Amino acid sequence: MKLLKKIIILFIITCNSYAEDKHPTILVSILVRNKAHTLPYFLSNFESLNYPKDRMSLWIKSDHNTDNSLEILRQWISSVKDNYHSINTEFIEDGAQYSGEYGPAHWTTDRFNHIINLRESALNFARKFWADYLLTIDCDVFLVNPDTLNYLVSKNFTVVAPLLRSEGLYSNFWYGMTDDYYYQRTEEYTPVLYRENLGCFNVPMVHTCVLIDLRRKESDYLTYVPSRIENFNGPNDDIIAFAISANRSAISLNVCNELKFGYLTVPLEQNDQLNMDYEQMINIKLEVLNEMNELYVNDLLKKFTRELPRKDTLGFDKIFMINLLRRPERRRRMNICFDELGLEVDVLDAVDGKSLNESFLESIKFMPEFSDPYHKRPMKLGEIGCFMSHFNLWKKIVQERYEITLVLEDDIRFEPFFRHKVQNLMAEVRRMPNWDLVYFGRKRLQENDEPWVDGSNYLVHAGYSYWTLGYALSLRGARKLLQGDPLTRLVPVDEYLPILFDKHPQDSWKGHFPRRDLVAYSAAPLLIYPTHYTGEKGYISDTEDSFLVPEVLKVTREDL
Ligand SMILES: *[C@@H]1O[C@H](CO)[C@@H](O)[C@H](O)[C@H]1NC(C)=O
Ligand SMILES: *[C@@H]1O[C@H](CO)[C@@H](O)[C@H](O)[C@H]1NC(C)=O
Ligand SMILES: *[C@@H]1O[C@H](CO)[C@@H](O)[C@H](O)[C@H]1NC(C)=O
Repeated sequence: MKLLKKIIILFIITCNSYAEDKHPTILVSILVRNKAHTLPYFLSNFESLNYPKDRMSLWIKSDHNTDNSLEILRQWISSVKDNYHSINTEFIEDGAQYSGEYGPAHWTTDRFNHIINLRESALNFARKFWADYLLTIDCDVFLVNPDTLNYLVSKNFTVVAPLLRSEGLYSNFWYGMTDDYYYQRTEEYTPVLYRENLGCFNVPMVHTCVLIDLRRKESDYLTYVPSRIENFNGPNDDIIAFAISANRSAISLNVCNELKFGYLTVPLEQNDQLNMDYEQMINIKLEVLNEMNELYVNDLLKKFTRELPRKDTLGFDKIFMINLLRRPERRRRMNICFDELGLEVDVLDAVDGKSLNESFLESIKFMPEFSDPYHKRPMKLGEIGCFMSHFNLWKKIVQERYEITLVLEDDIRFEPFFRHKVQNLMAEVRRMPNWDLVYFGRKRLQENDEPWVDGSNYLVHAGYSYWTLGYALSLRGARKLLQGDPLTRLVPVDEYLPILFDKHPQDSWKGHFPRRDLVAYSAAPLLIYPTHYTGEKGYISDTEDSFLVPEVLKVTREDL
């Protein structure tokens, strides 16, 4: 019986695979100039797309490079050339700039004309090639979702783009266009960008990563050349010409956000230096790490030898991360973040609540009134372990006399441009006459605005808060935390801190700690967030065992 079933199933599969159509053919046009810093990531993501490679043909042009973009391209092509249907390249080793060009982000008329012509020749090449589709993609796009191409093809639009995120409001679509063809912000824009509205949207502009169905007759009217559009008096710009030619031919431009597809970097402004791009890459990689299955990302990152920044402690005497030994996946993930951010971090083994023995538990005393205001239960072992981890670290800081320490937990994500922001913040902190603790990440619990610290741009007076995701601590602050003698009236660590800086709402709790003069500030905006919020998919807490659901341990690609 079983065998019969197997045969029937096999038969069905076989029949289906004969009846199935092959995937449509896609010509992919890739233009490269001075992208050595993004190319490895672009290429490894691109290569990971699960669209059949024998149905894809590549058209790659590169010129005017002053970095080793061509070397990277050649190396990559030689490793993949047998997989793709064909690869057409034109590499010009001129190493030259355009006349009158003064920086990597300066667009001269010559440069605009050159890009317009290149894009148009890709379009014409794809038409002559009889490709079903043209995918135009820039190499500062990181398609971290391997299903992107299959999805776009399945939508059956003449022109469609996957919504790509940057670290800010920039994306690869517009939701409004002015009468003179420039960008216009409309109120529909952010709900689509932030995926509050899901779907495919007809918009006046898509760019940077666009799939065009060349089998549609109407697609013959598409062009990147402004002068080919009748009565068009707009700017000399490839993407605007393309959008207008589509609109004039009644072709709708669509952007889709039903899945998370990936990222793009914000184009440099005229006076920006290339290292802005490096910083953006770091932000994107960290973001990818937050969103994706960690092992998959690690694979992507490993594919190319990557130049990591030199490590330092960002001006702190030490940076510590508290990590439970039985959470090695968090430690790995955080270490990748530290590598990318160039942070030298000492890992401290956290005290595992599960391994606390009876004699130790008998030696500590809990605050009599204490019960968690939300869960109405006494302290859990995990919370005790968490307290002891921080407590032991405070002891170490005092023993070793570290003047300024940064303490991190292991389930955190870093705000974009973390290093810069920390440097700005700490420059202010160092000018303060007295400070003990500065929250980098926390959960604010009070409704009212917290007052700014006089004359400060980055610091507020901390109110009642939860969480200890990350904080800077002075030696004086560590001493005060120990002098509070918390093991004789224990509360969770994120209740203890607000008690000591005298912002805890429960007066009776505060009464147990007569000295409450910890000087606590908070970064504003915060620089560290939890990787997952309580109740979100993937949330695992070591202190709230009730949320420990094994199925959510894995963030799979389907979750994207
Ligand atoms: C794709 O769209 C075309 C034109 O809108 C339509 O005729 C065709 O049936 C669609 N194909 C599928 C598979 O939905
Ligand atoms: C063309 O642009 C006009 C004006 O913005 C708009 O109303 C119309 O829907 C556009 N056409 C298509 C096919 O998107
Ligand atoms: C109990 O735990 C404490 C603190 O972790 C440790 O110092 C002590 O040796 C342990 N005692 C026993 C009997 O295992």
